[in-house]
Amino acid sequence: MKSDGDTTVIRASNITKRFGKTTAVDGVSFEVRRGETYGLLGPNGAGKTTTMRMMSGLSPITSGKLTVAGIDVSSQPREVRNVLGVVTQQDGLDTDLTARDNLIAYGFIAGLSPAQARRRADAVLMFFNLTEKSRDEIDSLSGGMKRRLAIARSFMTEPQVVVLDEPTTGLDPQGRNRVWQELETMKEAGVTVFMSTHYMEEAAALCDRLAVMHHGKILDQGAPDELVARRAGPEVALVRVANGVRKDVVNWIENQGFNCRDAGPVITVTASNGQRPDLSGLQGVRISYRPSNLEDVFLSMTGVTLTDDE
Ligand SMILES: Nc1ncnc2c1ncn2[C@@H]1O[C@H](COP(=O)(O)OP(=O)(O)O)[C@@H](O)[C@H]1O
Ligand SMILES: [Mg+2]
Repeated sequence: MKSDGDTTVIRASNITKRFGKTTAVDGVSFEVRRGETYGLLGPNGAGKTTTMRMMSGLSPITSGKLTVAGIDVSSQPREVRNVLGVVTQQDGLDTDLTARDNLIAYGFIAGLSPAQARRRADAVLMFFNLTEKSRDEIDSLSGGMKRRLAIARSFMTEPQVVVLDEPTTGLDPQGRNRVWQELETMKEAGVTVFMSTHYMEEAAALCDRLAVMHHGKILDQGAPDELVARRAGPEVALVRVANGVRKDVVNWIENQGFNCRDAGPVITVTASNGQRPDLSGLQGVRISYRPSNLEDVFLSMTGVTLTDDE
């Protein structure tokens, strides 16, 4: 069982999930090191939730091999759940119970004695700065606070790995910031964090490494900076153009082999060769440049953005 060594804690080899004719996850491989925060970045329908559900033992894998802490998810789903904390997109808190009692109930179900569960709940609430919310009813908490509590709850069993599916989707910017702090706290505690997101800012801020996912496949993986340098180059061009010639300009850009996104008043142009796009042949437009980001990485590889409806 020690073949994963001390550094690799999650190992996915060519995992696939089919639902009838739909291939939700299509031969995906990745490795996550102990203590690392690893992200799946992709738009709706990319296959993120399906991957997380397979990892959590909630959805059997169709083919491939997936291990967590050396434990095979297919043959030992219960053992895997002992080393994992899982935070689903729906918080799943019990609205009949207070914040503290939610944690205690969760610990109890996970096998702690009532006394252990109470002690652990108080420690976890303190660790995440939630002690003053202990007695609050769930319905009285903000969306961000509920999410923080759901994350804290995953700590009841002292997991080695915490799996979080879109931890900040639906939160306002302040709520998102607080959740980010909570995830940092987790990371500082030495926990391996495996998360999904469709927010490129979140991936850039939190993830040591990430996989870019689209249509069930991983298109590339690496550190955020590395991906940006490799796929989008240092800068992207922003082209402002009059409506009358817009179509011609877009055609010209695409004929040069650049990716472009034509939305609103600005056309965003990304080179796929790791260079700054050279638009010096383009006349009669205003061009400026900005530093590239993960959205540009996604655009350069797929031709669409993380939030485009396809
Ligand atoms: N239970 C299911 N039955 C059939 N298709 C599903 C099921 N769950 C997910 N899918 C399909 O699998 C694909 C990936 O979905 P999902 O993993 O939820 O993506 P994401 O979380 O990245 O938005 C989508 O096309 C989705 O419709
Ligand atoms: Mg999802």
